[in-house]
Amino acid sequence: YTITVNSSANGPAIDDKMYGVFFEDINYAADGGLYAELVRNRSFEFQAADNRAYTGLTGWTTTGTTVNDDFRLNERNRTYLQLTGPGSVTNAGYNSGVAVTRNAAYDFSIWARSDSASPLTISLTRADGTALATPIKINVKSNTWSRYAGSLRATSTSDAGRLTVSSGGSGTLRLDMVSLIPRDTYKGHGLRKDLAEKVAALRPGFVRFPGGCLVNTGSHYAYDAASNFPRARSYQWKDTVGPVETRPANANFWGYNQSYGLGYYEYFQFSEDIGAAPLPVVPALVTGCGQNRATDDPALLQRHIQDTLDLIEFANGPATSTWGKLRAQMGHPKPFGLTMVAVGNEENLPEEYFANFLKFRDAIKAKYPAITVISNSGPDDMGVTFDNLWAKNRAAGTDMVDEHYYNSPNWFLQNNERYDAYDRSGPKVFLGEYASQDAKFSNSLAEAAYMTGLERNADVVKMASYAPLFANIDNVQWRPDLIWFDNDESWGSTSYQMQKLFMTNVGDRVVPSSVTGGRVVQPQPITGRVGLSTWRTAARYSDFQVTATDGTVLVDGTFDGWTPVAGRGNWAVTGGAYAQTDVAAENTMVAAATNITATDYDISVKATKTAGDE
Ligand code: AHR
Repeated sequence: YTITVNSSANGPAIDDKMYGVFFEDINYAADGGLYAELVRNRSFEFQAADNRAYTGLTGWTTTGTTVNDDFRLNERNRTYLQLTGPGSVTNAGYNSGVAVTRNAAYDFSIWARSDSASPLTISLTRADGTALATPIKINVKSNTWSRYAGSLRATSTSDAGRLTVSSGGSGTLRLDMVSLIPRDTYKGHGLRKDLAEKVAALRPGFVRFPGGCLVNTGSHYAYDAASNFPRARSYQWKDTVGPVETRPANANFWGYNQSYGLGYYEYFQFSEDIGAAPLPVVPALVTGCGQNRATDDPALLQRHIQDTLDLIEFANGPATSTWGKLRAQMGHPKPFGLTMVAVGNEENLPEEYFANFLKFRDAIKAKYPAITVISNSGPDDMGVTFDNLWAKNRAAGTDMVDEHYYNSPNWFLQNNERYDAYDRSGPKVFLGEYASQDAKFSNSLAEAAYMTGLERNADVVKMASYAPLFANIDNVQWRPDLIWFDNDESWGSTSYQMQKLFMTNVGDRVVPSSVTGGRVVQPQPITGRVGLSTWRTAARYSDFQVTATDGTVLVDGTFDGWTPVAGRGNWAVTGGAYAQTDVAAENTMVAAATNITATDYDISVKATKTAGDE
């Protein structure tokens, strides 16, 4: 290849938040995943209406029964466990069980009431009853709901523990919100450390949350105690804030329940903890994801628009404002600095969606003119809604349009120039979801080649995030995914490593360049062209990253007038780790030692034009 870099020209600036992550509660990404809670169905709220396999005792074995009556903990946490006389209840956690590490501390809490003194013993054991910690004792003294807490320290390591609460009392004991959380969570904010660290290691510029299909789908109605809680509600942020015992369990689009222990406050806190801009997606009251329904209730629509304004107040308002006060009470008096809100996700009904979008947009801009309001281009960029919605967005002067596509590796290689032709004066692009459809190393190479096209067009493509972010290996609704885990291990896919390479090497400004000639040495299993992006950073050197499709020899050419910086590769960059790497390889937990890492991908070359001008 011959690579020509016009080092004296300035291309577009690359936004600091060019690359981010998209967190959706899919593949058990929240409960049993990023949310560090170890007890499954801690509030006994699972029910068959959510998922036919569920009962109030999903995750539990007990001598007691679940009850939903006037003794309930509160209107949003309706079912509790009742033990009459001596008895016990045991939770089996997620995956193979409750995962504990020797010498680590675990914070236990429970809500309880009893009509006679009830001494409780809390134990952590293996399935065969062998102790994993010294049990602790708690005395339930009163017949009003109270929270009791204690701490367990693991004496052994296990990924198959059981948490048991035993009662020696003789009366009626009522229990709810049984919780066990590792003391050591990410920055002490309740998220599982290894998973949060893997996200943080990407240095994301933004976090899009909470979905995805999760956002729009389901009932949009308000909580109504009198008619019981409507199941499978759409994701509504007000359900997810405040004390955890007042957050309702809810069935989600992906077929399982979410506790909302990981809610909007936690999303904002996590974004802040990893230095990323929060990007919430609010329901547009038009469903996508295989459903074609739009609300015809103007009052309901208005309520959701107001909820969105309240959300901005929750994130940014002073601690004296109604919703800012709640944020302060939850532990964060300072504003979170929200700058962007996305309305909707992949709606199938473009007319209905866009009419609603404009109402949200206008209301947000009227009160918060500085907030970027993001629209979208419909279910996928191949669909009939694509041009239609783009045209509407252009005409309405939308700030930014969210595009999604999951395509073959060849598609990514062949569409490297997609954004070269985009209208520079129209809405900016947020590539909110994309992935090449499989999990092989060759997929990641295709994604990398494509990302060079995103970078080259940084004046149009302002942000991009691979999707989905997480998958629990025992509960997968969607593949490929970036970060995989079970209850005590986690590992990144080859695409994770590729994202890491790009996300931790973001230039300041594109340097125009072109590539000609050359050939792909081994075109199988995928074919395509070389992707090239060059940029400079504040340190005034120019990097180029060349991603070929073959997995062996990558770059052999001239780099006009430049010589490489010692220690950072050379003109003929022969793959190093590539040479050992099969393009069909996948990263797996069992092969962790041989998994491909971001270092293996680093084929970038730093070059200097004249002595001293690095
Ligand atoms: O990322 C998985 C799903 O793909 C998202 O929920 C949805 O937006 C898209 O269709």
